[in-house]
Amino acid sequence: MSVKLDTRYLSKFIKPFELDQISPFVKTANDILHSGKGSGSEFTGWLNLPKNYDKFEFEEIKVVAEKIRKNSDILLVIGIGGSYLGARAVIEFLKSNNYNTLPKSTPDIYFVGNNMSTTYINDILRICENKEVSINVISKSGTTTEPAIAFRIFRKFLEDKYGKDKAKERIFCTTDKFKGALKKLADEESYKTFTIPDDIGGRYSVLTAVGLLPIAVVGINIDKLMRGAKLAQSELSNENLDENDCYKYAAIRHILYNKGKEIEVLESYEPSFMMFSEWYKQLFGESEGKDQKGILPISLTLSTDLHSMGQFIQSGRRNMFETVLLLESQDNDIVLNEENGNVDGLNYLSGKTISFINRQAALGTILAHTDGDVPNVVLKIKERSEEELGYLIYFFEKACAISGYMLGVNPFDQPGVENYKKNMFALLGKPGFEKVRIKILNKIY
Ligand code: PA5
Repeated sequence: MSVKLDTRYLSKFIKPFELDQISPFVKTANDILHSGKGSGSEFTGWLNLPKNYDKFEFEEIKVVAEKIRKNSDILLVIGIGGSYLGARAVIEFLKSNNYNTLPKSTPDIYFVGNNMSTTYINDILRICENKEVSINVISKSGTTTEPAIAFRIFRKFLEDKYGKDKAKERIFCTTDKFKGALKKLADEESYKTFTIPDDIGGRYSVLTAVGLLPIAVVGINIDKLMRGAKLAQSELSNENLDENDCYKYAAIRHILYNKGKEIEVLESYEPSFMMFSEWYKQLFGESEGKDQKGILPISLTLSTDLHSMGQFIQSGRRNMFETVLLLESQDNDIVLNEENGNVDGLNYLSGKTISFINRQAALGTILAHTDGDVPNVVLKIKERSEEELGYLIYFFEKACAISGYMLGVNPFDQPGVENYKKNMFALLGKPGFEKVRIKILNKIY
């Protein structure tokens, strides 16, 4: 297994018999998932995706990515939720959270359509001035307001800059095969389209064209990414908890939840993992948080946040557990020099690498927090590579599906997301929402 679970810091919180006792429930969740008989089973296409993806489209993605690399300084990725978080997580994890500002030969990537901030949109419009720009607009439903608004604005920007016909060559749509406003628009304007499979929901879609096109544009090897996920698909169906760290992780989460640990804090010691945590939060939050149940997923970047949230984790309310992502090897490590005079008092660290010091910070924190009665689950990742990340993505997707079924919820729907939309549409006067509008206005005034 690529991703390894280290349970040594859990011995105070979970006894071996508890894992034995939960094991049949994991088996049941596995049966439900793989038999395709569970709730939401029409959205389990991601399960076999690493082995069973559209190879023709996959090659097309590489060709289009190369075209964008050649003719663009900037790729605007328009999408929200599952339609942008995965791509952003992978790009920052494997390249850098400073990707746009680092010297490179690939286009900058800006993510838009994930908010409705005037300032944000104006900033990106200014950044795009005098630059060669392409757009990848991503929306499964094709009707989501935030990306639809951004697409209208940035499509006009491209049309004003290049003319309508030339702009068409720079617009790439990733959407449903047949339905939705985006599909209709793409057909009418003859934009190149990529397909989001019917049986894969937004938050499980990073390894489809949704994530793969932007990921390929920055020069990440998508074959290797899929290879890692394929290995995970082969390895992570074993029902024996001792041989399947993914299922063991799901089991541990459930045991801790039953003990009142209702918050999972995903932590890493690498700022480039920050967007991966955002992806994880959507995955687990949207999958588990329903029917008044669920573990609340939050995230921290350490050691940074030890100086802001460390106090709470150490001594605040004991309703959380931590899941720590540890990177086992580091490229281009930096060694701290000896300095004459030792004025800053750091000579005790001379000759040590930054990654060694970072690891000791992690170890010290894990020990302190477990002493403070916060269970710590540790997940070890060998290196920052495409294969390893492909594996990790699948690991979390599967752990999430198993966790959802163990919790007794449908891990593949998100009905609660509609509530704010209904109110917003009513307030904005969208046709068809008149009744909701009257109710809302009565509540407000
Ligand atoms: O997981 C999900 O389904 C959601 O987060 C969607 O990805 C998000 O709402 C965007 O939807 P769409 O791709 O239809 O624009």
